Amino acid sequence: MGWVHRRRDHGGVIFVDLRDRTGLVQVVFNPEVSSEAHREAHRIRSEYVLACRGLVRKRPEGMENPNMKTGDLEVMVEELAILNEAKTPPFMIEGGTEVAENVRLRYRYLDLRRPELQRNLFLRSRAAAATREYFHREGFIEVETPFLTKSTPEGARDYLVPSRINPGTFYALPQSPQIFKQLLMVAGFDRYYQIVKCFRDEDLRADRQPEFTQVDIEMSFIDEDDIIRTMEGYMAHLFSACLGVELKTPFPRLPYREALARYGKDNPDTRFGMEMVDVTDLFRETAFQLFRETVEGGGIIKAMRIEDDRRLSRKDLDGLRDYVSEYGAKGLAWARIQKEGWTSPIAKFLNEGETKGVEEKTAAREGDLIVFVADIPAVVHESLGNLRLHVARKLDLIRKDDFAFTWITEFPLFEYSETEKRFVSTHHPFTSPYYEDLPYLETDPGRVRARAYDLVLNGSEIGGGSIRIHDRKVQARIFDALGLSQEETRVKFGFLLDALEYGTPPHGGIAFGFDRLVMLMTGADSIRDVIAFPKTQKAACLLTDAPSRVSVEQLLELSLKIVT
Ligand code: AMO
Ligand code: AMP
Repeated sequence: MGWVHRRRDHGGVIFVDLRDRTGLVQVVFNPEVSSEAHREAHRIRSEYVLACRGLVRKRPEGMENPNMKTGDLEVMVEELAILNEAKTPPFMIEGGTEVAENVRLRYRYLDLRRPELQRNLFLRSRAAAATREYFHREGFIEVETPFLTKSTPEGARDYLVPSRINPGTFYALPQSPQIFKQLLMVAGFDRYYQIVKCFRDEDLRADRQPEFTQVDIEMSFIDEDDIIRTMEGYMAHLFSACLGVELKTPFPRLPYREALARYGKDNPDTRFGMEMVDVTDLFRETAFQLFRETVEGGGIIKAMRIEDDRRLSRKDLDGLRDYVSEYGAKGLAWARIQKEGWTSPIAKFLNEGETKGVEEKTAAREGDLIVFVADIPAVVHESLGNLRLHVARKLDLIRKDDFAFTWITEFPLFEYSETEKRFVSTHHPFTSPYYEDLPYLETDPGRVRARAYDLVLNGSEIGGGSIRIHDRKVQARIFDALGLSQEETRVKFGFLLDALEYGTPPHGGIAFGFDRLVMLMTGADSIRDVIAFPKTQKAACLLTDAPSRVSVEQLLELSLKIVT
């Protein structure tokens, strides 16, 4: 049984590639085997649903198809039943055909017939099963937490659901089960996990959806090392069970500051090198005015060595300069290391100490290209961090079948928000600070480090978590530092603060973005390719046409009025 993938009429004999979730097989309608089935087969069109009965045999010699998994076999059909007909589909159900995404999403049930998407969803299902295997084996309990709940602070906007029974009030769909999983620790469950939908109303990108799935985890009586070790075990099991890939653990750990300094990003792709180097000190007294003034103004200069085998031309370099200008860099100085010295627009301003110093710090060799950006640290990191990825793609330096994991640790507890003119939590307000940094909480909040960690895979943040605050007094100080009033915290998180007073164990956890993880495991370009029914960039479902208007009666029942 299956769907007609392709039909070919070869002068009297009709061949059909029949497709189901396991792949394709050739079925043959020969009038000498069954004239009835052969006559009926003339009606067959693409995507018709068939039941065939017949003899499976080896194909005649010379007729094998080496491009097909079942290319040595065929079914000589004795009986045919056409179970259903099909309209001509708006696109071909072939792996790899380029079809506009809005058409694919409108006819998602046809898109999902494509072998590539079927493979992705099978792998996703296997990954969910492997997740349950691992956490069950490690003594975790799976607990469901509510969807109709109160706002959880994860930094996005909430999706709200109006309450009919309590007019004028709203539930928030959870941005994560954060508070509930902490309450489960207060309740004594010790090790919790859940594969759970989360809802965030934020601007969408290729790796973000308004509803997405987390593998959510919390543990009691643990520290960072326990969490990290347990999660490395999870990744190892997942990759082994689903892909047959044996990961090397432990994964490297990189403090946030170092990640930024070396890669310009807190989600570095560590599948390749090309790290940036601080050369500020070499240029404090340089004759090159532009660099000297940057340093005098408190800026920094970083250099990045590109081993391009002289492949990048002058024109390419102009392209790279335009590329970094999008990240705010005012220019991109460069130097080609030649036997006779530097070929570079800035060579004439530099003395030998400076050029030799740069060569040493970047470990440059003849033929290499060195690029520089001088600016405030944020601009240097943004521009060189993105340039690093851009050049690596351009020069094809990234091994596609590689899985490079890195833990990023010691995040700052707070970030300064220019829009809100106050410090906000980098992770969320329940994240524990390093206790030795507590003295700076009131005097220099930007300096306080969080006991938070992210797991980065091939340049994507696949998970993040932290050790939580289990001391009510510290929690109150954090709310203070965030500029939240006592009333506000009472209204928002009073129930959590109360719980902290009834014997809360030290605890912590993490959540993985399951869609992102599966995307990276399958090699898909977008998380939409590993979600059965995803939404567009405008958070719409083209298949069902959600979101949509509702009737006046429904609005009245909910005591709602549309004002725009
Ligand atoms: P965080 O907000 O870092 O942490 O989320 C955890 C992981 O979820 C994934 N993710 C998303 N995936 C798809 N679409 C989105 N819109 C989206 N937003 C986040 C990312 C991210 O690393 N409660 C904490 C976890 C904890 O502290 O234990 C939390 O939600 O891969
Ligand atoms: P100019 O003398 O202004 O042409 O600049 C000399 C070189 O320095 C050019 O290659 C510029 O692209 C480069 N440059 C300009 N501004 C910066 C900057 N902020 N950081 C690094 N290089 C720069």
